[in-house]
Amino acid sequence: MFVAIEKSQDQKENYTLMLQHLPYYMNKQDPMVTTLANAAAVLNYFIDDINWVGFYLYDQEKLYLGPFQGLAACSEIKLNHGVCGQAAAKQETLMVKDVQQFPGHITCDANSKSEIVIPLVKNGTLIGVLDIDAPKENRFKDSDQIYLEKAARLIVDNL
Ligand code: SME
Repeated sequence: MFVAIEKSQDQKENYTLMLQHLPYYMNKQDPMVTTLANAAAVLNYFIDDINWVGFYLYDQEKLYLGPFQGLAACSEIKLNHGVCGQAAAKQETLMVKDVQQFPGHITCDANSKSEIVIPLVKNGTLIGVLDIDAPKENRFKDSDQIYLEKAARLIVDNL
């Protein structure tokens, strides 16, 4: 059961709460889709000022839409396409301050103004990406990246 935890006004404190609470909703015995569905819900609860958070999964050919919170989104993204496909191909986090300035950005939700995409890699193998969109420019800073990469690592370690 998810108990609505009282959040702070401070995003860093909320990230700390998120990292403390995420493990309660992950069980290595669960199917991957179950773990990612709960992870998307927990992230959506604790991350301030976002309009979309979710996963695209890699099937050795392309990325396909996984569990998420937000408006319905693009069902497939080719490797090297969009922010997700580029982060997946490079296997590195991409933080985009203004999506309009990112060549090849794929618009799924017209409200999205900035974005961070973190690859999910397990034992050197690409599983997919964690994608988070925000309705304001420059939402994500280096400090956000640190906490969100920790969350991504925690999720991957529990798949
Ligand atoms: N903007 C992403 C597409 C996915 S949506 O944001 C949910 C991209 O450029 O890859």
